[in-house]
Amino acid sequence: MGMALYDPEHGYYARRGAETGFRELGRGGDFYTSVSVGETFGLLLAHRIAREWETTFDRAQTFVVVEQGGHDGQLARDVLSGLREIGSPLLDGMEYRLVEPREPLRKVLEESFSIRPEPQVQIVDSLDAAWASAGIFLCNELLDAFPADLLVFEGSGWRERQVAWDESAGRPVFATRPLREEFAGFAAELGVDFPEGYVTEICPAVDSWMAEAARLFDRGLWWIIDYGHERADYYLPQRRTGTLRCYREHRLGDDPFAFPGEQDLTADVDFTRVEEAAARMGLQKRLFTDQHHFLIEAARPWLLSIEGKAPGPATAKRLRQFQTLTHPSTMGQRFKVMELRRG
Ligand SMILES: C[S@@+](CC[C@H](N)C(=O)[O-])C[C@H]1O[C@@H](n2cnc3c(N)ncnc32)[C@H](O)[C@@H]1O
Repeated sequence: MGMALYDPEHGYYARRGAETGFRELGRGGDFYTSVSVGETFGLLLAHRIAREWETTFDRAQTFVVVEQGGHDGQLARDVLSGLREIGSPLLDGMEYRLVEPREPLRKVLEESFSIRPEPQVQIVDSLDAAWASAGIFLCNELLDAFPADLLVFEGSGWRERQVAWDESAGRPVFATRPLREEFAGFAAELGVDFPEGYVTEICPAVDSWMAEAARLFDRGLWWIIDYGHERADYYLPQRRTGTLRCYREHRLGDDPFAFPGEQDLTADVDFTRVEEAAARMGLQKRLFTDQHHFLIEAARPWLLSIEGKAPGPATAKRLRQFQTLTHPSTMGQRFKVMELRRG
């Protein structure tokens, strides 16, 4: 999964982004995100960022928003224009750092921000380089793009499903292998109350990522927005085929070996793993909710500002976006928000 997504030459994100100017998202791409729905997501995050800054941060300290997985920088643009629209004094001294470790993609981003500048935006190559004493970290649909490993319950025990090469067919296939030592503790925690052939995922990449991300601020908030579940819900015996899936041109597929480097591969996030990794790094969970509740709360000042007025076309468009982002049948319930804090 790591190679299919990130191989510098053939990987889906590494290649498509630089080649196509990040056209894998949105209508002409392979899948939608809350960012590609429109500017309303960024506007609502701007409201929430402004409120947090006013109520929980020391105004004398430089405040930095750090975003990882920010893709073409659209969310950065939407948040900053949201802050401008609400007239937040935060804009004056703040910085917005986009973390992009891959050089070709960094170049595309730098070019885009030199053509349409945003003075607050800096593009950095690592989380370490984004360090600030105070701020908010945010990522939307970053963790679901981390490479996951597959576990399979077979013969009354847990094994691993790995990728092998079938010489005669000339293509990759799945092969079952003994469980790696490092997954034994997790498998023991899951137990053995699963049907034969049950497949699921585990994402150790979350741990190493959190070990870095949690070092970002002395005083800060971390917002992790993604589809996923708490562990008890993720590893339900009924979820027999796991959550790994593929997207290409808005069609959902279940063959991760099809179209290598040309389709997105993704798996739901185990938010309990995120919380545990965060706790090891000294962060506390402040909130875990769904996108519906998180955005409705964030939207309060905006909704009050338009209440009782006949909506013009621009407001009507935003209200439609708001509905897509928050309605339980679209993105409201599937997407979750975990808020972590230090200080
Ligand atoms: C599903 S896309 C989401 C894009 C964007 N956040 C949005 O919501 O529209 C996942 C993004 O995470 C990026 N990504 C994955 N691993 C990353 C890493 N270690 N650092 C920065 N970006 C990463 C991918 O290149 C891709 O742009």
